[in-house]
Amino acid sequence: MTNIVNTEQAAAWNGSEGAHWAKDNTADSSFNVELTTPLLTAANIQPDDHVLDIGCGTGETTRLAARQARHGHAMGIDLSAIMLQQARTAAEAAGIGNVAFEEGDAQVHPFAAGQYQVAISRFGIMFFADPIAAFANIGRALRPGGRLVFICPRNMADNDWYVVPLSALHRRLGTAPLPESGMFSLADPAHTTNVLTRAGFSEVTLRPLDAPMDFGTDAQAAAENYLGSGPVLAVLEQPGGLTRATAHDILIDALRPYEGSNGVRIPGAHWLVTVRR
Ligand SMILES: C[S@@+](CC[C@H](N)C(=O)[O-])C[C@H]1O[C@@H](n2cnc3c(N)ncnc32)[C@H](O)[C@@H]1O
Repeated sequence: MTNIVNTEQAAAWNGSEGAHWAKDNTADSSFNVELTTPLLTAANIQPDDHVLDIGCGTGETTRLAARQARHGHAMGIDLSAIMLQQARTAAEAAGIGNVAFEEGDAQVHPFAAGQYQVAISRFGIMFFADPIAAFANIGRALRPGGRLVFICPRNMADNDWYVVPLSALHRRLGTAPLPESGMFSLADPAHTTNVLTRAGFSEVTLRPLDAPMDFGTDAQAAAENYLGSGPVLAVLEQPGGLTRATAHDILIDALRPYEGSNGVRIPGAHWLVTVRR
């Protein structure tokens, strides 16, 4: 494993946050085709391409990329050993041979220069302490003219999947309005364009992508899911805060209106970002 500079993120994704996402394939079931298909369509992966998946987590998008790059290769990098373990197991079970996973910090990982035609990320690039350095490092891994395509959240206020359950908990705690989260660090298109341009990319395009997030078969399952997530765990850890049982009841009430025949689906507002090195 290489140097890690995003140490708090590494601790979270190797701790409770990573365990949550690795359990029962939470990532694969939350991020559905309505998110993933536009990402892969925009990436336009060719059969001979070498693809880098940044913050690949349990590796669903890495596996999909490897299938498209059938004469090429896909490499997933992530901070989380526990999620990468699951990614490796899933790739092996699916019989996908042209894929590899590496534990590392994409901000500083010593990628071989110009190794990839395309880099992708589904919600794995919003957590860098120094985003300009991180995107510049990812850019160095791309061939000149190579593409980076990623999905990240738009404004927190537009993301009901985050605001609805978290606001319900904060209201009960008396800590409303909801504090901003680092997850929304690339929400402002002017800021993101500036970061990517200063990191050496051109042709920056941000397209809004509205797609729901899936949280479980019913409000009960979705509440359990949220209870394992980092933002909810942070609320539970506040001194004098809510018990798990109280939070569970609050979450069920908040999530019930979103129950439908496809389970609990809550609107999400994202950016589909494409840039060229
Ligand atoms: C919300 S999860 C998304 C996982 C995966 N892309 C997916 O769509 O299922 C965010 C992922 O980014 C990873 N991550 C965060 N910061 C990172 C960094 N600096 N370098 C590598 N991975 C990082 C986390 O470990 C985590 O797996």
